Parts: sequence; structure tokens; C-alpha cells
Amino acid sequence: MNVHAPLTSEGQPRRVRLVFTLGLILCAGLVSGFWLRGRGYASFGVLGLFRRPVTFYADIAPLVYTQCAVCHHAGGAAPFSLLTFEEVRKHGVQIEQVTRTGYMPPWPPAHGYGDFENERRLTARQVGVIQQWFREGMAEGDTRQRPPVPAWPEGWLLGKPDQVVTIPQAYQLAADGKDVYRNFVIRAPVSQRRYVRGIEFHPGNLNVAHHAFIKVDHTSQSRQMDGRDHQPGFPGMNTSAEMPDGQFLTWQPGKLPEFSPAGLAWTLRPGDDIVVQMHLRPSGKVETVQPSLALYFTDQPPAARCFKIVLTSLTVDVPAGERAYAVNDSFELPVDVDAVAVLPHAHYLAKRMEGWAMLPGGEKQWMLLIRDWDFNWQGDYRYARPVFLPKGTTLFMRFTYDNSTNNVRNPNQPPKRVTYGPQSSDEMAELWFQLLPRRGSDLATLASAYQAKMMRTFVAREEYLLSLNPADAKAHLNLGSLLLGQNRAQEAQPHLRKACELNPSDDQAHYWLGLFFRRQDRLAEARSEFETALLLNPRNYKAHGNLGLVAAAQGDRATAESHLREALRINPEDTLARQSLEELLQIEKSRQSQAP
Ligand code: HEC
Repeated sequence: MNVHAPLTSEGQPRRVRLVFTLGLILCAGLVSGFWLRGRGYASFGVLGLFRRPVTFYADIAPLVYTQCAVCHHAGGAAPFSLLTFEEVRKHGVQIEQVTRTGYMPPWPPAHGYGDFENERRLTARQVGVIQQWFREGMAEGDTRQRPPVPAWPEGWLLGKPDQVVTIPQAYQLAADGKDVYRNFVIRAPVSQRRYVRGIEFHPGNLNVAHHAFIKVDHTSQSRQMDGRDHQPGFPGMNTSAEMPDGQFLTWQPGKLPEFSPAGLAWTLRPGDDIVVQMHLRPSGKVETVQPSLALYFTDQPPAARCFKIVLTSLTVDVPAGERAYAVNDSFELPVDVDAVAVLPHAHYLAKRMEGWAMLPGGEKQWMLLIRDWDFNWQGDYRYARPVFLPKGTTLFMRFTYDNSTNNVRNPNQPPKRVTYGPQSSDEMAELWFQLLPRRGSDLATLASAYQAKMMRTFVAREEYLLSLNPADAKAHLNLGSLLLGQNRAQEAQPHLRKACELNPSDDQAHYWLGLFFRRQDRLAEARSEFETALLLNPRNYKAHGNLGLVAAAQGDRATAESHLREALRINPEDTLARQSLEELLQIEKSRQSQAP
């Protein structure tokens, strides 16, 4: 009956001992298991005994395919492919190192300081798996466990485009010399208004393409400058082209193309020019660059329009050797908005970039933190969910620069003073935000508050230049024109006079002083300044236009008409001259018809 072994007197304690020992082993196993797991080990048995080795196919390939292959494949942005076991093993030492230090995958924003879409990041655990694989001798494992190898189709990642545009002739980049900013002008390939829901950019030469901004010019200015130096495009960073409708249209190596969020298409009109502004870096040999752009249209008109603001400083002036030079800017939002994306920009000396919002309640909200900025990894970052920023929120930026020998990216050894400017040997400080007003009708309020802020920024720039050189004629002129533009005529006047005095042969200085007089209704003085401007530069169409207006006000119709016509002949897009001429002719006509 009794199927159980009889209990001896020692039975009880022995069993207790056994259970206790087993329990101890179990606990040790669990503890070591958690410890190992905490350190990122791939797998383990309860006792740590069944821990299987990490293999390429089971553990490494899935990681590399999702985190690295997007750039590390033939024809991708990275210099070598990481798709096969051999390829990955060959770079094993480097891979262990670059993943441990966080250099790869490249993703400048610090985790947890803004929640971004498509964040590229290995978890501590994944880094641990790579380290273990490396330590264990980089086993290949069972090919049957190999996950599907990602394919990178030739052509467009977003699918079949509605239109593809390219520049007709390739640009030749010199073998060496300074970085080149080149603007390539492409006629908008549309015969009616189209809404663009996505673009995909192919730089046409990954060796030298550093980054690209895609802009639109509604004027003919870019077209007029195109090819003037007998090469496709035109140089420089300042153009009349802008990213359309507050969009961020950028490209950097490794950036995946994506469609705009629903309802946020942008508009392309017949007659527009698409301007592709590329930053090119000479590679040591002559290279050709021929970018192309795929366009994806939608019939759905945009439901809302974004607005771009830039927090910036135009007075960056980093002393040689300075280790923590900082610049700040801020902007108080006059309306409720959602922040859609952020884009930081600076050159080699920038180190730490901070962007944050102070909400009306006093709460701080991180928008972006980059602890160790790297000029080679420019990008814009879209928030995983739009960040609501109520009216009264202030957006802040603070960039810190290291111009000492400590900064390994410092291009100047020994360090030298670096000031604001567009060359990559200069410095910049920009933090762009793509904002979507909660109410469409708020766009104008936002735009005018932002314009006022930028005016202060521009004024600060000219004042800074004058503090360096009080005899800077150009700075006097710029400051005077800015102040006049802000209806601060009395403050503008001394600067405009000074500009004329310091550089009497500058037609612009006389033109602006003329404008000042015209605003004051001092017509004779205005006329004399416009006449001087035209003696110095007969093609100054604005001086013609204004001289026309002054002459009309003085009742000198013949002079008025001839100067307005001349303004229009030089610049057919001068709408002010056109309107004024039409009015003048209208008055003339009605005067004649009223005449007895
Ligand atoms: C966004 C594109 C991109 C992604 C994603 C990416 N890489 Fe890279 N990788 C590059 C580029 C470009 C280079 C060459 C320039 C450089 O070294 O900075 C590079 C260089 C490397 C190097 C050579 C570094 C050296 O010291 O020369 C290694 C190793 C590497 N990547 C490994 C990885 C691994 C592993 C991953 C995934 C965890 C990864 N990369 C993800 C673009 C990328």
C-alpha cells in the first residue's frame, strides 16, 4: 500500500537540506541570470549553465540589419557594407569599439531629452550582446537562424515618384580648397499648383555631399544667378529661396526619406524654382555632382501651415583657447503651437547644444540636448508626437563652444579666434523649430512676433560689428536701414548719414538716406539723395522708383513717369513701381478727361 519510501529518522533533515541546497542554486542562478541580463548577455539558463554562446545569425545579424545596414550597405552612406558574417567579423574590433563608445549608430541627440521619431540607438543590453559576441570569438552560428537580409532597392525608397527632376549638367567640384556652398536651380516641373507630400533627394555623389537643404524660390532671382560663373548653379548661402511653408526639407548621409505628416503637404506653383543648396567638401580629386530629386504629390491641399523659427546668435565670437564660450537666444510664443521638429546647426567648435521650453507654469520641457556636437552629423529631428507649447511659453537655446586644444575637432591648431560666418571655418549658432499653430488664424500673429525678434537679432549683429569697428560704413548702413524699417527714423538718421560720410560712393547709402527724407516728407533732400544714388549706380531701380514717387509728389509728372518706367525696365518685378506708374497714368487720364 505504502508506495512511498519509508521515512527514516534522518529523512526529514536530509530532504530539507536537499531543498535548501536546490533553492540556493536556483537563487544563485536567478541572481547571476539577472546580473548577466543586466549586462546585456543574450541568453542564459536558470543556473547560468545553459547560457548559449552569442552567434552572428541568432543575435548579431538582427541588430546590425535594423541599426546599421541602412547606411552600411553597398551604395549606402557608410564606407563599407555590414550585411554578411564575413563583413561584420572583419570589422569586429571597430564595431565593438564604436558601439561601446556610442559613436555608431550616429545619433547626436541625447536619449530622453525630447522624444524623436526614428531614433537610432542601441540599448545597453544590445551593446552588451555585441561585446559578448566579440569576447567569445565572434561565432557564426547556424545559417538557418539567419534573418532575411534587408534589400536596398536601386532607385527611390519612397516608391515610384510622380516626378523626378535633376540638374541638366553635372557640377564640377575642385579637388581641394574651401568647402563649397552651391545652389542648384531646377524649374518646378508643374503646369498647375501641386501639393507635395514627400520628396526624396539623391545627392549624386556621396563622397563630397555633406548636407543639402531643399528650398523654393517664388522670385526669378535664383534663376538669374544660375550659371553666371559658367558652372551649374550659383555660390553662397544667402538666397531669395526659402524652405516652403515652414517645412524642414533637408538631407544628410543616412537620413531616410519620409512623407510629411498627414495634412502638411506643401505647395509648388508653376513658375517656382526648386533650389537645392548643397554643402560640398572637396575630396582631394576633382569630382562631379549631379543631384536629383523625386517629388510625390497629393491632391489633398494642406490642412494647416507650419512656421519656422530660428533661435540664433549673429554675434558668435569665440576667443582662442576659450573652453566654454556660450551664446543664448529665446523667443516667447504669442500663440498656442505644436512643435513638430527641431534642427540644430553649428560648425566645428560647438560642443553642447541645449534647446528647451519654459512653459507658462514655470515647468521646463527639454526640446533637444546634444552633449557632443559633431559637424559631420547634421540633421533635423521630428518629434515622435508633436509637443504642445501653449501661448506664453518661451523657447530657449544655449550653445557652448570649445575653442581650446581639448576639442579634437578644432580645425585650428593652435586655436585662433573664430567669429560668426557662413564658411565652415567660421562659426554659427542656429536652432530651428518647425511650429504648427493650433489655429490657422494665429499664423500672422506668430509671424509678426517672430519678425520683431529677428529684427532685434539683426540690430544686435550690426551693433556688434560697430563695437569692433566704429568706422564700418556697411554696418552703419545696415543698422540705419534696419532702424528705419522699424519706424525708428530718428535713431536711423545718424547711421545713414555716417554711412554716406564714410563711403560717399555707395549708392545704397544715399538711397537709404533718401528714403529717410522721403518718410519725413523732406522731398527736396530726398530727391537730391536719390539723384546722387543714380549718378553712382544708374541701375538702382529702387532709387528710380523712389525718385519717381518724389517727383510725382512734387507735381513733376514727366520726371516721375520716366523714372518709374526706368525702374520697371530694370526690374519688371518691381510691383511698387508698377502700381505707382499705373496710378500716375490713371490720374493723368482722369485729369485729361475732366479737362474742358
Ligand atoms: C546613418 C548612417 C549610419 C548608420 C545607421 C551606421 N553607420 Fe557606421 N558609419 C557611417 C559612416 C558615414 C561612417 C564613416 C564615417 C565615420 O567614420 O564617421 C561609418 C563608420 C563606421 C565604422 C568605422 C569607424 C572608424 O573608426 O573608422 C564602424 C565600425 C561602423 N560605422 C559601424 C557601425 C555599426 C556597428 C552600426 C550599427 C550599430 C553603424 N555603423 C550604423 C554611417 C552609419
